[in-house]
Amino acid sequence: MVIILMGVCGSGKTTIGQMLSQQSGWPFHDADGYHPAANVAKMSQAIPLTDDDRGPWVAAMAADVRKWIASGENAILGCSALSQWIRAALGEGDPRVRFVHLHGSPELLRQRMVDRKGHFMPAGLLDSQFAALQLPRGAVVVDVGPPRGEIVAEIRKRLGV
Ligand SMILES: Nc1ncnc2c1ncn2[C@@H]1O[C@H](COP(=O)(O)OP(=O)(O)OP(=O)(O)O)[C@@H](O)[C@H]1O
Ligand SMILES: [Mg+2]
Repeated sequence: MVIILMGVCGSGKTTIGQMLSQQSGWPFHDADGYHPAANVAKMSQAIPLTDDDRGPWVAAMAADVRKWIASGENAILGCSALSQWIRAALGEGDPRVRFVHLHGSPELLRQRMVDRKGHFMPAGLLDSQFAALQLPRGAVVVDVGPPRGEIVAEIRKRLGV
């Protein structure tokens, strides 16, 4: 099974993905690591990415998801996946790919972004992320307000992993 943890910046994809990986033993892959350098440079200057920019990033992730499924590997991918076309590319609808939407209020996530240190995405991009979010259908929706251990337990319970 491939678990895709999706949500806007600051929703906890990396934090929850790493903890879920530790508990399950499934490898965690962060979408940040799939960006070409040009995208990282744009994001560090708070320039929103275009869908053209996202093309190679999504294609690289989609190739890995197909590879994991074909080889029967379990994996966790943390990826914002805000747009429907991105979720479609990542395998939405395939029962072996499960989307978990990490859901939090703009106020909560803004505070977490402000508190977070040493990360390339400035808090100002949060508004554009919420504007870009097309709500998924068929995703498991998890509230990210509680402590991280509770969130991971909720995901494991809901997905049976
Ligand atoms: N349940 C939680 N309770 C309190 N703080 C949390 C929780 N989950 C995550 N955080 C904190 O919120 C901040 C954002 O989390 P994280 O970096 O994992 O989000 P992200 O979705 O990976 O963001 P990005 O899209 O920018 O990569 C971090 O400082 C993290 O430590
Ligand atoms: Mg992250």
